[in-house]
Amino acid sequence: MDKELVIKYQEFDLDALPGDDDRELMQRAVEAADGAYAPYSHFHVGAALRLADGTVVCGNNQENAAYPSGLCAERTAVFAASAQRRDVQSYDALAIVGRNEKGELCEASPCGACRQVLMEYEQRQGRPMRVLCYLRGDRVRVFPSVASLLPFSFDF
Ligand code: THU
Repeated sequence: MDKELVIKYQEFDLDALPGDDDRELMQRAVEAADGAYAPYSHFHVGAALRLADGTVVCGNNQENAAYPSGLCAERTAVFAASAQRRDVQSYDALAIVGRNEKGELCEASPCGACRQVLMEYEQRQGRPMRVLCYLRGDRVRVFPSVASLLPFSFDF
């Protein structure tokens, strides 16, 4: 039997993104990209995670000469939040942006491994974590949850 999967998401111009806090979160992600250590890919990624109390925890990609030892911005942010706080079962939203070699902002959609990791934190907190991905031309794609980005995810 054929089945179909529909993913719902929204797209906005950055300056028309509803909610000052989401625009600010994306701005924090842009700033976080400046702290990336990406001498190999030259692709700088920033991630900003907003907790329920309004605290923002940022991450960026950290590369290494032994390539697989590096880590993406999204996991750096979510692991930092979980490592630093005991009350973090409250991840409201994660904003992500890339900056290429020319210094231009560009899309950064979470890789498969990051989706899997984010998914577990979302399941753990029992409520959705919104994901905001920057798109070229100052637009933003908003996913209502990590689950929407990772259907049929692994669990046991
Ligand atoms: N990267 C991220 O940090 N997040 C993503 O969503 C995709 C990729 C990093 C990993 C690596 O340092 C560089 O971008 C190129 O893949």
